Amino acid sequence: MIKFFIRTFGCQMNVCDSMWIAASLTRRGFIQTHREEDADIILVNTCSVRRKPEEKIYSFLGRLYPLIRKTPHLVVGVGGCVAQQLGPRLWDKFPFVRLLFGTDGVCEVPQSIERLLGEKELKISLLEFMDYYPEREMCWRDIKEVEPSVYVNIMQGCDNFCAYCIVPYTRGRQKSRHKEKIVEECRVLVEKGAREITLLGQNVNSYGRDKWGDGTSFEDLLIEVGSIEGLKRLRFTTSHPKDISHRLISLFGELEVLCPAIHLPLQSGSDAILKRMGRRYSIADYMGIIERLRRVRPDIIITTDLIVGFPSEKEEDFRQTLEVVKEVRFDSSFSFKYSDRPGTRASRMKEKVPEEVKMERLARLQALQDSLISSSLKRLEGEVVDVLVVGKSPRQPGDGRTFWMGREPGNRVVNFASGRGDLIGEMVRVRINEVKKHSLLGEVI
Ligand code: 5AD
Ligand code: SF4
Repeated sequence: MIKFFIRTFGCQMNVCDSMWIAASLTRRGFIQTHREEDADIILVNTCSVRRKPEEKIYSFLGRLYPLIRKTPHLVVGVGGCVAQQLGPRLWDKFPFVRLLFGTDGVCEVPQSIERLLGEKELKISLLEFMDYYPEREMCWRDIKEVEPSVYVNIMQGCDNFCAYCIVPYTRGRQKSRHKEKIVEECRVLVEKGAREITLLGQNVNSYGRDKWGDGTSFEDLLIEVGSIEGLKRLRFTTSHPKDISHRLISLFGELEVLCPAIHLPLQSGSDAILKRMGRRYSIADYMGIIERLRRVRPDIIITTDLIVGFPSEKEEDFRQTLEVVKEVRFDSSFSFKYSDRPGTRASRMKEKVPEEVKMERLARLQALQDSLISSSLKRLEGEVVDVLVVGKSPRQPGDGRTFWMGREPGNRVVNFASGRGDLIGEMVRVRINEVKKHSLLGEVI
C-alpha cells in the first residue's frame, strides 16, 4: 500500500490544488496519511507571498532530512509559488527533492509521481507556464463522497502587477477556465455531496476578461453555478475593488444561494500609498462599493487584507488606514507587515520603512481589528443562524455529547453540541449563546 502525505501552505488556491492532487492519487489506489514518517510520497504545496511563509517551507523541508536518511528514494515533491520562484535552485538547496511543480503543472503531478516511484534516480520538473488553463482530470466522479464545502478554480494567474506582489511572477498571466468545465465540475461535486462551493481565482471579478473568455462574465457564471440543484451556498474569493461591478453588487440582493460575505482587500487607507501600490482605486471608490453592498445586503460580512509599512508609508498614511478601517467596520481582517519580494516594483523602491516602525504599526492595527472582530461577533449573540456542518470540532466536551463545527452564512466558525447522529453536510439551525475570541458557540434549536 503506497501512502502519501500532503502539507499545504498559503492561500485557498493551494488548498484547492492539494485537494485535487489528493483525490487524484486516491483514485489511483494510493492512501492518504497524516503522518509524514509513514509516507512513501511527501508533497508540500508552498507559498511565497511574504517572506515568513517562505521561511516556514525551508524549515519544513529541513526537518525531512532524518526521513530521507532512512528512506533515500522517498518521493518528495515541492509545488506552488516557492517551487515556481526558485525553480531548480531548490534542487541545490534540497537535493532530495524529486518533483517540482508550479500551478500549471498540477495536472501532471499524479502521473509524474507514478513515474518517480518506478525510476528511483529520476527527477521531474513541471514548472512551465501554459498559455491556457490546463484542465485537470475530473477525478471526483470516482470518489465516493466529497467534503460538504469545496473549492473550484475558475481561473489561474493574475495580470494586475500590484507593486508589492509576487503572484504574477509565480502564477503567470490570467487565464480563465472554460465555463462548461467549471459548471461540470461544480455539478459533479454537488452530486458527490458538496453543499457549498467557493469559486476561486486571484481576481475573480475579471473572469472572462482575457483571451480565453467566451463572453461569459463573472456575474453570468455565478448565476449559472448558483442554479445547480442541491447547491445550498455559493461563495467566491478573491475580489479586486477596481473590478467590482454594479451588477455583482445587485446579485447579493437577488441570488439566494450567494452568501452575504465578501473579501475585499483594501491594502491601505491612504490614496497616495494605493497609488504607489498600483491598486487603481481610491478610498472614495472603495467607500462607494461598501455603501452599495450594505444598501443591497445590510447583513453582509466584509473582510479585508491590509499591508503596513509599504515603502514611503508615513505615520499620516498609516493613520488614514486606521480611520478607514474604523469607518468601514470590517468584520474581520488580515494585516501584514510589508516584505520585499524578489522582482517586484516595490522591492526596488527607496524609502523603506524600518522594521520597528512596521512592528509598531502592525500592533496598533491589530488591536483595532481585534475590537472590530469582537463587536462583529457580539452582534450574533442570541441570534439563530443556519450552519452548514463541515466536521467534528477539534475539542470535544468529554460528556458523551458530540461537538460539531460548521459555518454560518457570513463564514464564521460555529461550534455546537448535539446528541443527534452524523450531521456532516447537514444544514442546521443553531442559536448562538456564547461568543469566543474568533468563533461562536451555540446549541441546535
Ligand atoms: N508584503 C506584505 N504583504 C503582502 N501581501 C501580498 N504581497 C505582500 C508583500 N510583499 C498580502 C496582501 C494580499 C495578501 C494575500 O497578502 O495583503 O492581499
Ligand atoms: Fe501564496 Fe499567493 Fe501563491 Fe497563494 S498565490 S500560494 S497566497 S503566493
